[in-house]
Amino acid sequence: MRGEVPNFHYSYTFFVFLLFLILFPTFSISSNTLLTTESLTISSKKTIVSPGDVFELGFFKPGSSSRWYLGIWYKTISKRTYVWVANRDHPLSSSIGTLRISDNNLVVLDQSETPVWSTNLTGGSVSTPVVAELLDNGNFVLRDSNNNNPDGYLWQSFDFPTDTLLPEMKLGWDLKTGSNRLIRSWKRPDDPASGDFTFKLETGGFPEIFLWYKESLMYRSGPWNGIRFSGVPEMQPFDYMVFNFTTSSDEVTYSFRVTKSDVYSRVSLSSMGVLQRFTWIETAQTWNLFWYAPKDQCDEYKECGAYGYCDSNTSPVCNCIKGFKPRNPQVWGLRDGSDGCVRKTLLTCGGGDGFARLEKMKLPDTTAASVDRGIGVKECEQKCLKDCNCTAFANTDIRGGGSGCVIWTGELLDIRNYAKGGQDLYVRLANTDLVLSSRRHISRENNSDDLELPLMKFEEVAMATKFFSNDNKLGQGGFGIVYKGRLLDGQEIAVKRLSETSSQGIDEFKNEVKLIARLQHINLVRLLACSVDVDEKMLIYEYLENLSLDSHLFDKKQSSKLNWQMRFDIINGIARGLLYLHQDSRFRIIHRDLKASNVLLDKYMTPKISDFGMARIFGRDDTESITRKVVGTYGYMSPEYAMDGIFSVKSDVFSFGVLLLEIISGKRNKGFYNSDRDVNLLGCVWRNWKEGKGLEIIDPIIANSSSTVKQHEILRCIQIGLVCVQERAEDRPTMSLVVLMLGSESTTIPQPKLPGYCLRRNPVETDFSSNKRRDDEPWTVNQITVSVLDGR
Ligand SMILES: *[C@@H]1O[C@H](CO)[C@@H](O)[C@H](O)[C@H]1NC(C)=O
Ligand SMILES: *[C@@H]1O[C@H](CO)[C@@H](O)[C@H](O)[C@H]1NC(C)=O
Ligand SMILES: *[C@@H]1O[C@H](CO)[C@@H](O)[C@H](O)[C@H]1NC(C)=O
Ligand SMILES: *[C@@H]1O[C@H](CO)[C@@H](O)[C@H](O)[C@H]1NC(C)=O
Ligand SMILES: *[C@@H]1O[C@H](CO)[C@@H](O)[C@H](O)[C@H]1NC(C)=O
Ligand SMILES: *[C@@H]1O[C@H](CO)[C@@H](O)[C@H](O)[C@H]1NC(C)=O
Repeated sequence: MRGEVPNFHYSYTFFVFLLFLILFPTFSISSNTLLTTESLTISSKKTIVSPGDVFELGFFKPGSSSRWYLGIWYKTISKRTYVWVANRDHPLSSSIGTLRISDNNLVVLDQSETPVWSTNLTGGSVSTPVVAELLDNGNFVLRDSNNNNPDGYLWQSFDFPTDTLLPEMKLGWDLKTGSNRLIRSWKRPDDPASGDFTFKLETGGFPEIFLWYKESLMYRSGPWNGIRFSGVPEMQPFDYMVFNFTTSSDEVTYSFRVTKSDVYSRVSLSSMGVLQRFTWIETAQTWNLFWYAPKDQCDEYKECGAYGYCDSNTSPVCNCIKGFKPRNPQVWGLRDGSDGCVRKTLLTCGGGDGFARLEKMKLPDTTAASVDRGIGVKECEQKCLKDCNCTAFANTDIRGGGSGCVIWTGELLDIRNYAKGGQDLYVRLANTDLVLSSRRHISRENNSDDLELPLMKFEEVAMATKFFSNDNKLGQGGFGIVYKGRLLDGQEIAVKRLSETSSQGIDEFKNEVKLIARLQHINLVRLLACSVDVDEKMLIYEYLENLSLDSHLFDKKQSSKLNWQMRFDIINGIARGLLYLHQDSRFRIIHRDLKASNVLLDKYMTPKISDFGMARIFGRDDTESITRKVVGTYGYMSPEYAMDGIFSVKSDVFSFGVLLLEIISGKRNKGFYNSDRDVNLLGCVWRNWKEGKGLEIIDPIIANSSSTVKQHEILRCIQIGLVCVQERAEDRPTMSLVVLMLGSESTTIPQPKLPGYCLRRNPVETDFSSNKRRDDEPWTVNQITVSVLDGR
């Protein structure tokens, strides 16, 4: 048909195009604006794109949600990332919706033309038509069409952040309008509705930013010290990032700028309440986790109460400032520091007081502190001495040797110290207490209840292992080689000789080991001693007769001895061991490398998790978290951990799920091969489960010997395994729920969805190659873990 009247067709199209150009000249030229004559509808799928193609604004449905939102996302970033949502709490429930300018306001209308969202500007003195424009920095602005000056914007999305802080966006107070710009988490990863976490700058005393969960304070950044936030010692200017904290009569704000046009960086508050800075890695097509907080136990608000300070390298982490003692020694002894400390000697307020200098500190909560930027540390000291209520002082700015004065009156709260970074804090003490502390200002209280972990001499260990002979070698993991040994009294031991690449110092290592030795549970391998000698660090464990689970599970001859009951007991034991690690909340250890070869078996086939705490020994949360490396093993790593380096107890749950399915099937997840049907074991289990053939995946050895009652139990276990390996961490149960589900028939198990990694082949490998490229450090032990284990 078309061929018969080609000329007519083309000239007609051209005519319409011309007409369009004449009628709507601006629209066809730049699509970064919305005029009063235009509208954006869901059905038209039209969007507004910033001039340099950086950001795009339009309607979207997040994840599996059926609701529509107006929002902004990166135009060119392949992983759809929303940075702003207009109607987060008033979604459109149908796919009919319109954005237009009405009465000089931006409005979103639903199917009945009722506004669900509006910029709510009243009584404008606008004489010329207004226009809305999406800028390249992601700011969506409403302005007088004749006025391009940012100061004259009628409204801008940057004043109403969602959960994301973009470069050039300001967090904090506009003192002229009295508005405080804060970021608030999404409710869930696919629900932009206002969540319970907020990150909010407060000006009281000495401004700092607080992370709240509803009404409870979770974490604070510490005040700005001229270079960084006092509680973020790892923060430093990078060649392409500039941080800006401004305090003036107009504003108290924090913002950052990126000075390279092709670098994308954003700070967002996740629906789980974690602040995260991501930067986009183009080659890997992924958001790299650059920094996050809160990081550790010491970041928890008021972890050690008043006058206590938290040191993540001591055990317990809570310490009293010198001159103070635990308020409630009994609770303190049970490692609950929240009651804090009290003075040994009361202040006299006459001439009887002085100051102890504490180094490398995160300054105490400044809500009630007072600031005088005009004076230095000497005057500050005098000022503090004159005020009987003054308990401490510090510089407000640490640049150039320090300047300014901040004074605390009353209790000192939420202090911690750092191995690197932080600043000096001067705490007022009675002179009697000061004398004792004059040599060392921070001195750890002698914890008489410290567990005394025996130290073994290198020679003794060498003898026991026949000088680390190959015959005594039990195995090799990423963290080092394991040898069997026999002490002079006949006791058998397993010696782990750690690779030399740990960056930890000897004291830190000993502290860490003491901490780990304190974790005692029937399903954890017991640490007997350690040995430290110049560059050699060794851990001495109990020896377990039946070696590791993988040697039983994946060996035809051995696995025939493992009937269902034994396997079920092993699964339960591992679950309980992991639960203990996760829930002994004073330490809350995330294993990060749970796998069959890290589960050892004693002579009764009791499973014992080994290598727990290794992630701690090998520099968890390195202060430079830029190239935070991922420890772990292919096949067991959760998607969010392998991809984004985000780990949580839920990444362990993922590994547990994989392990559980391996125990039932007798097959490895990695290296799993059955023609081309499934990418891995998880995919195979899922396919069979969905088809109602769950039992087909179980190890034939147990299939035959199992009664129908057992089959029911096995199916429940498979379901638990699948629930544990869900793609999204939120969909996975906690270990306490896993233990419940394993233990009781009456606990309902959720219906699993498609597990993580079922569609993509080898996603982890791709990610790692890119990881290596951007990492110019020499081999680190963590990478060795990955590559060595991958070779098997
Ligand atoms: C506009 O006003 C309405 C009614 O007072 C309110 O519900 C809505 O939240 C306001 N919108 C914005 C963006 O502030
Ligand atoms: C920091 O922000 C203020 C206003 O918020 C601005 O005047 C100043 O130029 C900025 N400084 C830098 C170094 O970007
Ligand atoms: C010290 O604190 C007390 C009680 O809070 C208060 O009444 C008093 O005015 C304060 N003194 C000074 C000098 O601020
Ligand atoms: C800590 O206390 C123990 C036992 O009271 C004592 O042997 C040890 O020397 C003390 N250590 C320090 C550093 O004071
Ligand atoms: C476990 O070790 C004990 C003691 O060495 C041995 O008797 C038993 O057969 C082993 N069990 C298996 C399943 O290998
Ligand atoms: C299971 O039992 C069937 C029939 O009883 C038998 O043919 C099969 O070889 C058995 N499989 C194993 C692994 O024992």
